[in-house]
Amino acid sequence: MVLPPPRSPPPLPQGHPNNNVTESIYERMGRNLHLTPNHPLNIIRTEIYKYFDDNHPGVFNKFDTYAPIVPITANFDEVLVPEDHVSRSSNDTYYVDDKSVLRCHTSAHQAQTLRTGETAFLVTGDVYRRDTIDATHYPVFHQMEGVRVFTKEEWEAAGYDDGTKFCDEELKKALEGLAKHLFGDVEMRWVDAYFPFTEPSAELEIFYGGDWLEVLGCGVMEKQILDANGRDSATHRAWAFGLGLERLAMVLFEIPDIRLFWSNDERFTSQFKDGDKLGATKFKPYSKFPPCYKDVAFWISEQFTENNLCEVVRGEGGDLVEEVKLIDEFTNGKTGKTSNCFRITYRSMERSLTDDEINAIQENVRSKIASDLGVELR
Ligand code: DAH
Repeated sequence: MVLPPPRSPPPLPQGHPNNNVTESIYERMGRNLHLTPNHPLNIIRTEIYKYFDDNHPGVFNKFDTYAPIVPITANFDEVLVPEDHVSRSSNDTYYVDDKSVLRCHTSAHQAQTLRTGETAFLVTGDVYRRDTIDATHYPVFHQMEGVRVFTKEEWEAAGYDDGTKFCDEELKKALEGLAKHLFGDVEMRWVDAYFPFTEPSAELEIFYGGDWLEVLGCGVMEKQILDANGRDSATHRAWAFGLGLERLAMVLFEIPDIRLFWSNDERFTSQFKDGDKLGATKFKPYSKFPPCYKDVAFWISEQFTENNLCEVVRGEGGDLVEEVKLIDEFTNGKTGKTSNCFRITYRSMERSLTDDEINAIQENVRSKIASDLGVELR
């Protein structure tokens, strides 16, 4: 495979009052894990391409180098995310300025790609969300979006009057096939869901490792999106799906911590090879180094959010931060003030940490909390 040249992130407009993209997020842009040879995310991406190419030769065009800075309109309005939806808040989304965000889902490219005349496509890329910190959440992860448009002739030729019903059935066939391709002969179920951009909407779950696991979200594209992007809904229908690559890779390769995807440690990177049969390669942990716990307690204020706290902790501790967890909360009856105590777990996946280094990080975390979060340390 010929890789595109590495994409260096465009300069970030500094100092725009809406900009909440931190240094540690900015550094992740352009890493292109999903295009990195022998990386688990690349292996999964390629496997999904293979499934669609084998079953629908020549049908799907692939786009995996779209830049992650997108217009706010593309990320939200064009996929009908309501004006007051929480995902629009700067607590949940990284804003570059008053016109653009770091995409929080690959659905941001649906409308744009339809407008260029594509009828069936897969879009893969890094997506960004402000969030809490634990083994399965990282502010940057990767998604793949799939869209396929059908015409009235196609559903009529298949004996359907109802384009939506045809599309819904096509969608389910395609995605059940995909789940089988990835996970083998597993039990599956469809669960009703809601997404602003599809109606009806559903999630596919598989029974794997003793639990029901959500694999993807999907549905029949809202007619309004077709009409707005050059496909008259009187004569067109489309299905769409979105899935998270880390989530699938963590299950298929038994990767226990989402930070590992970013590791350059050879003990991680040497374990995966392009072309490996899915399910055959399981990650072998090389060692589990001891954790170091640090608690921090403070009186919160109106503006305090856990996502903001996590951003501060990640900013100081980087990938040494394994988890941030609220362990105690109470309100003082007299003052009415509420105290939160968070436990920060520091652990390197590569080496043992020293007390001195963690104490130094924790000191910085404490002073940043006091100066940036509008809370009062206890
Ligand atoms: N954008 C959704 C998310 O990030 C995933 C998704 C759901 C994409 C349904 C779709 C869809 O295209 O039809 O959670």
